[in-house]
Amino acid sequence: MDKNRLPKHVSIIMDGNGRWAKLQGKERVQGHMEGVESVRACLETAAKLGLEYLSVYAFSEENWNRPQEEVIGIMELIMKAMEHELPNFLEHNIRFIVLGNRARLGEKLNQTIDRICGATAHCTRTTFIMFLSYSGKWDILQATKKAAATLTPEQFQQMEIKDLDNYLVTAGIPDPDLVIRTSGELRISNYLLWQTAYSEFYFTDVLWPEFREPQFMEALEAYAARDRRYGKVK
Ligand code: IPE
Ligand code: IPE
Ligand code: MG
Repeated sequence: MDKNRLPKHVSIIMDGNGRWAKLQGKERVQGHMEGVESVRACLETAAKLGLEYLSVYAFSEENWNRPQEEVIGIMELIMKAMEHELPNFLEHNIRFIVLGNRARLGEKLNQTIDRICGATAHCTRTTFIMFLSYSGKWDILQATKKAAATLTPEQFQQMEIKDLDNYLVTAGIPDPDLVIRTSGELRISNYLLWQTAYSEFYFTDVLWPEFREPQFMEALEAYAARDRRYGKVK
C-alpha cells in the first residue's frame, strides 16, 4: 500500500446488517451486533495505517422511522459499544467524535457520548467520527440557520461557498476523499451531501458484517488507482 496514495478521510455507509442477519436465520439486532465487530476491525486497520479520519454513518435521521424495538436495540448497542471501546480508543490513540442531531438522542446517551468523547479528546493518531441521527439536508439547514443567527445581514449576504463549511457539523474536518457503501445499494441515503461534492465512491456487494480488513484494504487499493481531476484536464 503506497502511503502517498492513502486518503486522508474515509467515510463508510455501513449497510446490510439486516440482510446479513436474515441470511443467518438471526434477528436484525444480531446483524447490528456483528456490524460493531466490522467497525472495530476497520478502525484498527485505519489506526495501523495512520489514516487521519475514519467516519461511519451509524444511524440516519430517517432510521428513526424503523420499528421502535429496532431503534431501541441500536441505541443500546451503540451505548454499550462506546463504553466497551474506550480502552481500545486510548490504547490506539484514537480520538472519538459523534456528529448529528444530538437533540433527538436521550439524555443518558448524550451524557455517555460526552464522557467517552471527552476522554479521547487528547488522542492524535486517528479521528473516528460516528454520524448518529444525521442527515445531509438537516446539516445544511442547521448550518444555514446558525450562519444567519451568527452573522450580520450584510455578512450573511456576502457568504461564499467555502464559508458554509464553518457552520456544518463537520467544521474543521476535511471532506471525505473516499466514501464506501456496502451491501450493493447504489445511493447516498441523505448522508454527507455537501461534503461529498468531490469524493470518490466505492460500492461493494459485501454486507457490512462481512466487511473487515481485507475488504477495507481492497477499497483503499481501488482509491489509490483513481485519478481525481476536480473538473480540470490532466
Ligand atoms: C445498516 O444495516 C445499519 C443501519 C442503517 C442502522 P441495515 O439495518 O440497513 O441492514 P439492511 O439494509 O436492512 O440489510
Ligand atoms: C443508510 O442505510 C443509513 C445508514 C447506514 C446509517 P439505510 O439502510 O437506512 O438506507 P436506505 O433506507 O436503504 O436508503
Ligand atoms: Mg439498509
